[in-house]
Amino acid sequence: MITQQFKKHLERQMAEVKAAGLYKPERVLGGPQGTRVRLADGREVINLCSNNYLGLAQHPEVREAAKRALEEWGYGLASVRFICGTQSIHKQLEERISRFLGAEDTILFSSCWDANGAVFEALLGPEDAVFSDELNHASIIDGIRLCKAQRFRYRNNDPADLEAKLREAKDARFRLIVSDGVFSMDGYILNLPAVCELAERYEALVMVDDSHATGVLGRAGRGVEEHYGLSGKIDILTGTLGKALGGSSGGYAAGRKEIVEWLRQRGRPYLFSNTVAPPVAAGALKAVELAENGLALREHLAKLAGLFRRELERLGFDLLPGEHPIVPIMLGDAALSARYAEKLLELGVYVVSFGYPVVPKGKARIRTQMTAAHTEEDIHKALEAFAAAKRELG
Ligand SMILES: Cc1ncc(COP(=O)(O)O)c(C=O)c1O
Repeated sequence: MITQQFKKHLERQMAEVKAAGLYKPERVLGGPQGTRVRLADGREVINLCSNNYLGLAQHPEVREAAKRALEEWGYGLASVRFICGTQSIHKQLEERISRFLGAEDTILFSSCWDANGAVFEALLGPEDAVFSDELNHASIIDGIRLCKAQRFRYRNNDPADLEAKLREAKDARFRLIVSDGVFSMDGYILNLPAVCELAERYEALVMVDDSHATGVLGRAGRGVEEHYGLSGKIDILTGTLGKALGGSSGGYAAGRKEIVEWLRQRGRPYLFSNTVAPPVAAGALKAVELAENGLALREHLAKLAGLFRRELERLGFDLLPGEHPIVPIMLGDAALSARYAEKLLELGVYVVSFGYPVVPKGKARIRTQMTAAHTEEDIHKALEAFAAAKRELG
């Protein structure tokens, strides 16, 4: 039974969050995901805050594939994979992702959150050690919490600090280094060559969550490995179907076949959670094909990101350096950042302000993301709004 005391406790916490400008309201959309979105009040605004990097969430071929699957395979399977939740489209999708990424095998999960939640507990025991970048996604942090391995957190993208930690754990039975391929709040790209070099010297497994890189980086969209011209270096590659690969839901772990086979036996979110819905599996199959053949989309996306960065800097905004279509505009103060987001929405551009605890205190920002479906005209319109907001808010 909920007590008055507990309700008061929640109210107090909530009041603190609101007073600090850290409350996260949910914007209700009145239509589908796209370069422009319709708000609940009917207004259309330019959307610069989705992960729909290749613009495939509304792609006619993806929608058609999902519709056909709905008729052919049904709406849902009401089962986990190992009971009666595996259709041939699930196997096809796993094989297709393996082929796309150059991996030996792939296992699907309901989300990348679940993929990251499955890996550590299934693979590592108390005799082992895991080394995690300090800016890793929350799903990696929580996944690590579920396992009993020794934990080492190293400074963001800092090989010297990683090496110091690897030395500390020389006696561990197995070592695993884990990092985001692209750090989602900053748009920084992992220094994969340095990680792989250390992994070889210290006999560590390499795991990368490439959720923001798959489909986006590399000529064929294979992500951070291809970005550096490497292949076969990553032992476990997790990713999402919820961003560049169609923007729906679902995730996967791809990599060495022995690891994937073990995850099918011991990955708890795989064993105890429902299978990916058939229309989603079929839509993702089509999205992977479009992503693999999406060089023109990636080139357009990179051009837009370059244009947006250059012009924002010319307007005097403080950006984190980078080349990814995640473009963070640093405002520092969470309340100011929130005011900017509100003003920009008034001016017809939808962006979101991020404050603590999503980013460190004093490093509030507006994280913008563009998609390959945007046009240069969209970006220029957005820039006009940023200029106007700056004139008003400073
Ligand atoms: C780096 C990273 N990993 C994992 C996830 C979770 O992906 P999913 O939405 O498939 O659970 C996200 C999504 O925010 C992410 O940015």
